[in-house]
Amino acid sequence: MKAVNLEKPWNISLVNKEKPVPGPGEALIRIMSAGICGSDIGAFRGTNTLVSYPRTIGHELAGIVEEIPEDNPRGFKPGDKVIIDPYLYCGQCYPCSIGRTNCCTDLRVLGVQTEGGMAEYYCHPADMLIRMPADMSWTDAAMAEPLTISLHGIHRGGLKAGEYCAIIGAGPIGLLAGMIAEAYGAHAILLDLVQERLDFAKELGVEYTINSKEEDPIERIRQITKGTMAQQVMECSGANAAIRSALDYVSHAGRITLTGWPKTETPLPTDMITRKEIDIRGARTSAGEFEEAIDLIYTKKVDITKILTRTISIDEAPDTVRDIEKNPGSYMKVVVNMCD
Ligand SMILES: NC(=O)c1ccc[n+]([C@@H]2O[C@H](COP(=O)([O-])OP(=O)(O)OC[C@H]3O[C@@H](n4cnc5c(N)ncnc54)[C@H](O)[C@@H]3O)[C@@H](O)[C@H]2O)c1
Ligand SMILES: [Zn+2]
Ligand SMILES: [Zn+2]
Repeated sequence: MKAVNLEKPWNISLVNKEKPVPGPGEALIRIMSAGICGSDIGAFRGTNTLVSYPRTIGHELAGIVEEIPEDNPRGFKPGDKVIIDPYLYCGQCYPCSIGRTNCCTDLRVLGVQTEGGMAEYYCHPADMLIRMPADMSWTDAAMAEPLTISLHGIHRGGLKAGEYCAIIGAGPIGLLAGMIAEAYGAHAILLDLVQERLDFAKELGVEYTINSKEEDPIERIRQITKGTMAQQVMECSGANAAIRSALDYVSHAGRITLTGWPKTETPLPTDMITRKEIDIRGARTSAGEFEEAIDLIYTKKVDITKILTRTISIDEAPDTVRDIEKNPGSYMKVVVNMCD
C-alpha cells in the first residue's frame, strides 16, 4: 500500500509499505482522508523532539472499517464510516485512572511517537474509533481532530456565553478556537502579527481582531471589554512573548489556557498571577471531545470548510508538505482525500 513516509528530517516520499494486519482488539481501516497538520511539518523539519524516524506521518484520519472484532465495544461493523481518535494511552497510570487519558504519562500520538496513518490502510484499537454521520464528507471528517484541540483549550478554561475570550495566534488552532467561542455565544478577540490571518479571521465570523504589531493590544482589549479584560485567554501561538502577554490580557479572576507549544521556557511575573488570582491551565490534545467536534461540524455551528485551503491526492502529499514548509503563509488546512 502507499504511505507518506519520513525516512529522516527533510526526507519525505511516497513509499510502498506492507498492508498492516490488525492485532488483538484492533480494527483495519481503509483510510479515506488525512489532514496535514503543523506537527507533520514539524516532523518534516526535525524540530519536534518527540518524533522518532523513520515515521509515517498523519494523525487527522477518517476511513471505512474493513475488519473489526465482532465483540467491539461500540458495535462497529465492516463498512462503517469512522474517525480515528489518535491519542493512544496506557490506561494504567494516574491521569488515565481519573479519565485524563490525554495526559497519560506514556501518551503515544500517531505520526509522532508511533506510526501515523497517512496511508491507504491503518490498524487502530477498535475502542478508539468514533462514528461519523453517513453523509459527512471525508474532508470534513479529517478536520475533526484539529477542532478537538481547540475545543479542549476552550473547555479547559470553562468558556461561558457572554464572556470575552482573547485568543493569541490565528493559525488553524486559534481560528477554530475563535469559531468555537462565537458558537458558544462568547465574544472572540483574535490576536496575531500577520494582518492577512486577521482579515481571514474576520471572514470566519470572529468579532474582534487585533494586530499586536500595529496597535496596543492591552488598550484595545480594555476598550472592547469595557475595562474588564478577557475572562478567558487561550494561547495558540507558542511564542514566548505571547504567553507572557496572556497575563496582561486576562481579567482579574480570569482563566488562561496554554495550547501553543513553546520551544523554550517563558519567564512569568507570578505576582500578577497572585494579584489577579488567575487560573492557568495546560491544554494538551483532547479527551472525549470528538463527538462534540463532529456535531459542531455537522450542524455547521463551526463551518470547518472555510479553513480548508485545498484537497490533494496521496501522490501529491510529499511535494505539498515540502511546499507548506517553504510557504506556510499560503496554507491554512490541506487534506489528503483518497476517494476523489
Ligand atoms: N496542545 C496541543 O495538543 C497542540 C496541538 C496542536 C497544535 N499545538 C500548538 O498550537 C500552536 C498553534 O498551532 P497552529 O497549527 O495553529 O500554528 P500556526 O503556526 O499555524 O499559527 C500560529 C500563529 O501564531 C502567530 N504568532 C506568532 N507569534 C505571535 C505573537 N507573539 N503574538 C501573536 N501571534 C503570534 C503566527 O503569526 C501564526 O499565525 C502551535 O504552537 C502548535 O504547536 C498544540
Ligand atoms: Zn493535528
Ligand atoms: Zn496512562
